[in-house]
Amino acid sequence: MPYTYRSRVIAHRGGGTLAPENTLAGLRYAHQCGFAAVEFDVMLARHDVPVLMHDDTLERTTNGHGALPEASAAELGQLDAGSWRDARFAGEPVPSLAAAADLCVALDLFANVEIKPWAPGGDALAALTGRVVAADCARLWRAAPTRVLLSSFEPAALGAARQSAPQLARAALFDEVPANWRAQLELHACVALHCNAKRLDAATTRAIKSAGYGLMCWTVNDPVRAAELFDWGVDAVCTDRLDLFAAMA
Ligand code: G3P
Ligand code: MG
Repeated sequence: MPYTYRSRVIAHRGGGTLAPENTLAGLRYAHQCGFAAVEFDVMLARHDVPVLMHDDTLERTTNGHGALPEASAAELGQLDAGSWRDARFAGEPVPSLAAAADLCVALDLFANVEIKPWAPGGDALAALTGRVVAADCARLWRAAPTRVLLSSFEPAALGAARQSAPQLARAALFDEVPANWRAQLELHACVALHCNAKRLDAATTRAIKSAGYGLMCWTVNDPVRAAELFDWGVDAVCTDRLDLFAAMA
């Protein structure tokens, strides 16, 4: 049975670029725009606590410094992860996965949780991140397990996620779809493939869809381009421009 997405449009990093990425404010913004689905990135903070963060270091999106795993979830909850985007988001903290999941459930937002292992940690940390994040998601979405989709660029994270929460759907992420995409999806029983829209073509789209997999691509900020991708057969697009895509949400 082919994987079915909750919505054709998914808010990238929570609220796209019109709210601070990977924050609760971003999730609320997506909901206000009428979005039913969000994507966000999850990494392990100190003591292996999952938090929402894209980068390996804190500097770009917060007023903190240093490597993400050196900070505790409590310390991250005191940082300002909003001002870099806009002064009206000043004081918006780095949220825990638990807080984000609670908000998604409360707002009835479908969540694509991207497992984003801290890159310098290599395969061992990727596996730990996959195991911990998947187990947390299974607990946090226990009443509605189909409302969450796990994804990762890291095969070690997908394999560990499968072991710790086999009941949750998984997607493999690729910047460019590799020639052996089918074998890679089968390796960890993924139900979907997510890829960079810039490197996708119509023939590859047809092959993935004919094989029965879900297909989402990022980051699509032009509704005309989205219409072309949907025409090819792409199931869903991840966008930063919630304002332009609100009508499709
Ligand atoms: O999950 C799709 C997309 O978010 C992957 O790229 O770097 O924005 O996490 P990135
Ligand atoms: Mg992401």
